[in-house]
Amino acid sequence: MELTLSSSYLASLANQFGTPLYVYHAETIAQQFKKITSAFAPLNARIFYACKALTNIHVLQYMRELGCNIDCSSGNEVMLAIHAGFTADKILYTSNGIHFEEIAAVADTGAFINIDSLSNLEKFGQRFGKQYPVGVRLRPNIMAGGHAKIATGHDKSKFGIPVEQLDTLKEIVLRYNIEIKTLHIHTGSDISDAKVFLKGLDFLFELLHQFPDVKVLDLGGGFKVPYHPNEKETDLVALSKALQEALTQHPATRERSLQLWFEPGKFLVSSCGYLISKVNVLKPQGGITIAGIDTGLNHLIRPMMYEAYHHITPLAAAEGKTLKKYMITGNICETDTFAEEMMLPELKEGDLLAIHNAGAYGYEMSSSYNARFRPAEVLVQNDQARLIRRRETMEDLLRNQSGL
Ligand code: LLP
Repeated sequence: MELTLSSSYLASLANQFGTPLYVYHAETIAQQFKKITSAFAPLNARIFYACKALTNIHVLQYMRELGCNIDCSSGNEVMLAIHAGFTADKILYTSNGIHFEEIAAVADTGAFINIDSLSNLEKFGQRFGKQYPVGVRLRPNIMAGGHAKIATGHDKSKFGIPVEQLDTLKEIVLRYNIEIKTLHIHTGSDISDAKVFLKGLDFLFELLHQFPDVKVLDLGGGFKVPYHPNEKETDLVALSKALQEALTQHPATRERSLQLWFEPGKFLVSSCGYLISKVNVLKPQGGITIAGIDTGLNHLIRPMMYEAYHHITPLAAAEGKTLKKYMITGNICETDTFAEEMMLPELKEGDLLAIHNAGAYGYEMSSSYNARFRPAEVLVQNDQARLIRRRETMEDLLRNQSGL
């Protein structure tokens, strides 16, 4: 798997800023954004970056400069989006399992809102009636996603209003005269079968005649990114063609103009990010050597949480070195494995490794478990490296604790 920044450059950043270190490459984000906007240009589509993947304010600002809209999953993400300069007409908020007052606070900003429970829809109707056109997130009973924990559209999922409850939904809409402007689904993350998006569109088409005010069909995020060298990214050009065909063939599109919305997270920021780490200890054990590195599940939880594969590349020159079998483990005091078995050019203690595809849900899901500091974050743009968040310190760990 190719590095988008050279290994000597990544090593120089590790030397300058220390390890473990998150490095993001701005131009890779731009390239992914261009890929999606040009593939979907023939569709009447809007792209909202699902910022839950990575909310560093500098990344959000960069997204805004690229011309991307933003999708938020909490009131605080909406506040960060505003802080990064997004205006309300570019912000989408999809709530899930939250108190109604958070939705009401987001409504004060004027952002687009998707509601995912009948209970909050009713409260929204009581408070806003027809004044605030709104979207509903539906649960389509579609199974999709790269791992059980990131499948969100199936019939046991907590997400969305179950399609079986459509009659009650319509009663609420009528009772409060709510204008439903958007039908939303998000079936999962890391979806390898792009047909799922067509299935999702069909699902929404089936319901359309019951929602005369709907102008937007929001298919969520979930496009596949290659974590493993054998995997392929979702072919967005082919998907766009198939979606166009479905749209032009459907009678509803002759009666009203419909816009498609998408909310990619991983697709935009996964491949831009590397977690750079140093080999602390080597422990030969049977036919394998355990390489203990100076990061762990506290910094990148995906391998332990979703059994996710992350490609790992040593940053030292590989020429002349023999390949050896390694288990790559973190330094957290519980099972903390990045790779069970990986063939790498022979390592020595102090060597640097780049963990690929760490941009999405990496830093964002990090913690200070074992009282270890969160890493620093660096953004490389126009060949310039900028520290966009400093490494945590003991002061950060103690900051909110009382009586010290
Ligand atoms: N829209 C909604 C409503 C979502 O819930 C999500 C992700 C997205 C968009 C963006 O999905 P993406 O394009 O990034 O797949 N932490 C997990 C992924 C959790 C995704 C949660 N929702 C992981 O690291 O795989």
